[in-house]
Amino acid sequence: MPITILIGAQWGDEGKGRVVDWLAASADIVARYAGGDNAGHTVALDGEVYKLHLVPSGILHSNVVSIMGNGMVINPVNLLREIEALRRIGVDIRPERLVISSRAHIITPAHVALDKAKELALGDGKIGTTLRGIGPAYLDKTGRAGIRTGDMLLDVEEFADRLVSAIEASNEDLRAQGLETLDAREAAQSYLEAADFLRPYIKDVSIYLHEALKNGKLVLCEGAQGTLLDIDHGSYPFVTSSSPTAGGALTGLGVGPLHVDRVLGVAKAFSTRVGGGPMPTELDGDIAEHFRGSGANFWDEFGTTTGRPRRCGWLDVVMLRYAVSVNGFSELMLTKMDILSGLEELKLATAYDIDGERHHYPPVTNEQLERAKPIYETMPGWRENISNCRSFNELPAAARQYINRVAELCDVPIDIVSVGPERDQLVQKAAAPTAAFKR
Ligand code: GDP
Ligand code: IMO
Ligand code: MG
Repeated sequence: MPITILIGAQWGDEGKGRVVDWLAASADIVARYAGGDNAGHTVALDGEVYKLHLVPSGILHSNVVSIMGNGMVINPVNLLREIEALRRIGVDIRPERLVISSRAHIITPAHVALDKAKELALGDGKIGTTLRGIGPAYLDKTGRAGIRTGDMLLDVEEFADRLVSAIEASNEDLRAQGLETLDAREAAQSYLEAADFLRPYIKDVSIYLHEALKNGKLVLCEGAQGTLLDIDHGSYPFVTSSSPTAGGALTGLGVGPLHVDRVLGVAKAFSTRVGGGPMPTELDGDIAEHFRGSGANFWDEFGTTTGRPRRCGWLDVVMLRYAVSVNGFSELMLTKMDILSGLEELKLATAYDIDGERHHYPPVTNEQLERAKPIYETMPGWRENISNCRSFNELPAAARQYINRVAELCDVPIDIVSVGPERDQLVQKAAAPTAAFKR
């Protein structure tokens, strides 16, 4: 099984980081293929909590080479900070362990300023971005005006000139909006220092992966964001600017489809969303608070990157079904099953009523989606704490029923669920593969 692609099946924060960490134990390479430091992937290990934004979540395994693909947008200064912070707590990061694509695009300080400016200008209609400069960086990429990580391999003066020109070009946009511009030379300074450090890590990732696959290496592609935030398939314009879905893994790393034999969707057992845009099953009140938590636990529903409270609601099977169709999941995993404990009854949105018509897939326009009334199926809940369960049979009957019903409604197997944030807090059906990759 040479390539497994792991993808968020909802609006991000499904628990991808912890699943990647688990799968990485039997992988050789973990490769991020989209997004930038808008991502926040949490891995809990022996009481320590690691929050990764750019560095792939396989980095905690000494057997794994971590790759940052060309589909990503990288802020070199933030990457350097993240590497330094990880090194301080003993994580081994060297160019043999971390490879950065020479074709990823660089997020400049001007992109960050433009992201903020655009959000401000949108007022109440804002996207609710993470303000990391993601949108403006991808805009320059597709507008063929960006600068790339490979440019950091140039002579220092030449890289500095490219960076300064790029910042000055963005200054034009800031000026046009009546906003303060950046001193390009000064803004570039910390980038030159970061480039100096990162240079030995930069390689052609597509060729690296091609050789690795020829040598029988097993590659896990780590999705960031989620299917419903995809630039093409999400609820545009309330999306991110990249392709977190299955196709994005291929273009975002430069690998061919014939290597892929497993596409694993990760979904939370309920729905969350952070930022603007329609969310048909969103709740207010006690149930939402039950899902969100108070913020006292690191796994409570507050953004890993921005700290914003996440919007919470019942599991939206209509959206999940759509994610299955967009990505062609071979299986689905449910996380945070433990959070459902203690609720008398559980609801699954199995269809939408829009203007009197029943829909099993989400409609195209946000206007229709805003009018969608979820049609719920109610299921019994359970009281028991399930965080110590390790086999499917130990789960309460109502929990098994919930999992099986979601699998049936989405027409995809669910053989693994998580019942807590730690590496071993997983429950597998007897039929599920014991290792992530079959060698
Ligand atoms: P990602 O962006 O998909 O990697 O997810 P985040 O890390 O942003 O958010 C998921 C949160 O849920 C993190 O705090 C995880 O530690 C936590 N988490 C993941 N799986 C479980 C689980 O099964 N139970 C509980 N209680 N927390 C979990
Ligand atoms: P992980 O990888 C949840 C959301 C933002 C906003 C929209 C656009 O941790 O699951 P952007 O900064 O990308 O231009 O913001 O996308 N968003 C995420 N939401 N998890 C993420 O990443 C996200 N990355 C972006 O909140 O609604
Ligand atoms: Mg996250």
